Amino acid sequence: MGKTRNTLRVARILGIETSCDETAAAVVEDGRLALSNVVASQAEMHAKYGGVFPEIASRQHIKVIDSVVSEALSQAHLELSDIDAIAVTRGPGLPGSLVVGLNMAKGLALGSNKPLYGINHLEGHLYSACVGLGEVNGDAPQFPLLALIVSGGHTELVLMKDHLRYERLGGTLDDAAGEAFDKVARLLGLAYPGGPSIQKAAESGNPAAFGLPRAWLPGTWDFSFSGLKTAVLHQIRALAPDEDPAKLPTADLAASFQEAVVDVLVGKTRKALEEFGAKEVLVAGGVSANKALRMRMQTDLEVPVHVPPMALCTDNAAMIAAAGYFRHSLKRTPFRGLEMDIEPGWAL
Ligand code: KG4
Ligand code: ZN
Repeated sequence: MGKTRNTLRVARILGIETSCDETAAAVVEDGRLALSNVVASQAEMHAKYGGVFPEIASRQHIKVIDSVVSEALSQAHLELSDIDAIAVTRGPGLPGSLVVGLNMAKGLALGSNKPLYGINHLEGHLYSACVGLGEVNGDAPQFPLLALIVSGGHTELVLMKDHLRYERLGGTLDDAAGEAFDKVARLLGLAYPGGPSIQKAAESGNPAAFGLPRAWLPGTWDFSFSGLKTAVLHQIRALAPDEDPAKLPTADLAASFQEAVVDVLVGKTRKALEEFGAKEVLVAGGVSANKALRMRMQTDLEVPVHVPPMALCTDNAAMIAAAGYFRHSLKRTPFRGLEMDIEPGWAL
């Protein structure tokens, strides 16, 4: 794809993402080169609630969506008329948040007469691993590809036999991996979002300090993290019955918890790789920013492992634009046009 860049006309997609607590817009060329990537995060506004407060999220999206989209176009040095198509997250996500992005995208598509594509947020996460910031990111993936999506809302193991073709192998039965990081961080008195806080605390901890449980769920491709979270809670109660966080070996608990999550994610991915003979692995979603997970995936698996650039692991619109490019160029989508509605519970 990179070699034909100068001879064929490029396709530039404007992506819009508002499924949770990030208001984001980006312009991506040919699904691989981010010309801009603007993310207005609300994380600080939700921090005191220890999670996303939906009403606050949708109000904030309304406040900033116009300027976020304008900024994405201006950073790419483009006008709306230079764009080939618009891609927007249609679900899964918070209804009041999704509707802000979709209405904005519909207005832009109507006003500019450009095609509009509705993108599944999880598909966006998968395509985040194809995008580079300011440069083309690697080669096209080889299929069959085994993909692990690990975010605050999802833990999904997916087999891709081709672009935009998904076979869901399994997923979490209770908490998502990122949700487990967030909940355990809260138990340890660490800041939200919990993933980065636990990763930081774990740096000075011993991952073997506490023997925490791993739910292998043999014979399935499913995951479960709620038992692990409860085990951490029991440890905390045993170590600090008066709930004084100063008495806790926070670094050791964080490191042991992180190790347990990484063991299961890498172990089950390796097993599925053997079973389905995938040529490559792709890990995406907020938790794919985790350094221990990235490292173990690279060292423990014998096939190439694609991960997104750090800035594209958590929610962003470049990934939505990239998925939109493949939908646009491969002409494979039933989800387009102004009649589209949001789909808050949309499965991949
Ligand atoms: O993909 P994302 O931005 O939003 C969803 O679609 O859910 O993922 C957010 C999740 C949060 O649970 C956050 O704690 C987790 O990703 N996360 C991490 C790291 N950075 C973000 N988890 C572990 N290690 C990290 N470095
Ligand atoms: Zn996400």
